[in-house]
Amino acid sequence: MSTLPTDRPTDGSPELSIIVPTFREFEALPHLLDRLAELRRSRDISFEVIIADDDSQDGTEAMIAEKDLPWVQLLVRKENHGLSPAVLDGLALARGNTLLVMDADLSHPPEAIPAMLKALADGADFVIGSRYTDGGTTADDWGLVRWINSRVATVLARPLTSVADPMAGFFALRRDTFEHAKDPDPVGYKIALELLVRSGAKRIVEIPIHFSDRAHGESKLTLSQQLLYIKHLRRLYIFKYGIWSHLTQFLMVGALGTFVNLGALTAGLRVSMTERHALLLGIATSICFNFLLNRRFTFSYARAEAILKQFVGFVAASFAGAVVTYSVTLALREKVPQLSIQLAAVFGIVCGSILNFMFNRFLVFRAKHIRPESS
Ligand code: GDD
Ligand code: MN
Repeated sequence: MSTLPTDRPTDGSPELSIIVPTFREFEALPHLLDRLAELRRSRDISFEVIIADDDSQDGTEAMIAEKDLPWVQLLVRKENHGLSPAVLDGLALARGNTLLVMDADLSHPPEAIPAMLKALADGADFVIGSRYTDGGTTADDWGLVRWINSRVATVLARPLTSVADPMAGFFALRRDTFEHAKDPDPVGYKIALELLVRSGAKRIVEIPIHFSDRAHGESKLTLSQQLLYIKHLRRLYIFKYGIWSHLTQFLMVGALGTFVNLGALTAGLRVSMTERHALLLGIATSICFNFLLNRRFTFSYARAEAILKQFVGFVAASFAGAVVTYSVTLALREKVPQLSIQLAAVFGIVCGSILNFMFNRFLVFRAKHIRPESS
């Protein structure tokens, strides 16, 4: 007897659903279906396959109709195109208690599916067909640029998940894990990362795979889609870290603002302003700069509120922060004379910034009803 899910439970619906997002995969799809059919035969695994196609108009529809496989369902999506929304639509149609997602281009070996199912049966919440775990490999001719790109993207996701290959598009999970992910947000194409973080899956297993280069057709992922990754990361950080992610953004804006401040100060001196005036110019410029960036990024949930009122509040909070910076620095100098003024000032700035942040977060950019981010 096999421990692998099969599609012969009493209610007649398949235990495993395989979702394959496609866009112009007319050439690759028949090969994938052949290999999946072979898997059904040789390993005695049954499943349904849902092809979530973005209206490719390349003969995919006719080809699937002609093959007429009872276990294959084609979903032709006429709107809301994109890899992640296609996967989510496919998942919504899936009937199985086990859900698996893979690419059509044979980069993901169907032969790894039994090991992935075994890991789920053994208690994993989420299984990744992984290139970067021990034993996993990628095609040799991956260019340096593609390799660096993939590695940098992975490192940026490290605080969200410790898996070796969070960028993978080959993964499986149980239905109940999937249902834990409330309102998955299909920005960008890292749908596994999205589900991994939002479902709060704990027991994550990586099955090593060899990721082959696509043999047919071409990659669909453009640079602009890659840039969406930054937006995607930001949302996942907010989801996972809440106020800490706001504080981090606030401090990053503050660090940038320090450069703007010094730049304006220097420029003021160049046009022979007095030191005092140049100092004030630097402070005023950085306050405006920080305000705009914080409103746009750090506290973007409150962007619907009146800007002028927020600006006045921001200036007031900055003033309070400056007073704290000033007093903490001087008090430290007096209490601990061994400390240099610079070190004391750093400490003062940290205190002032945190107070500043609290004021902004809870008074200035308070949203009456915090709405989920929609852009
Ligand atoms: N429905 C739909 N809509 N499918 C799409 C779209 C789209 O807009 N864009 C791509 N796909 C399908 C492709 O047809 C293919 O089956 C799969 O999604 C992956 O697309 P590729 O174009 O082959 O992407 P890739 O090889 O660059 O990226 C793959 O590897 C990355 C890791 O290196 C994907 O698996 C990514 O998810 C993964 O991060
Ligand atoms: Mn591919």
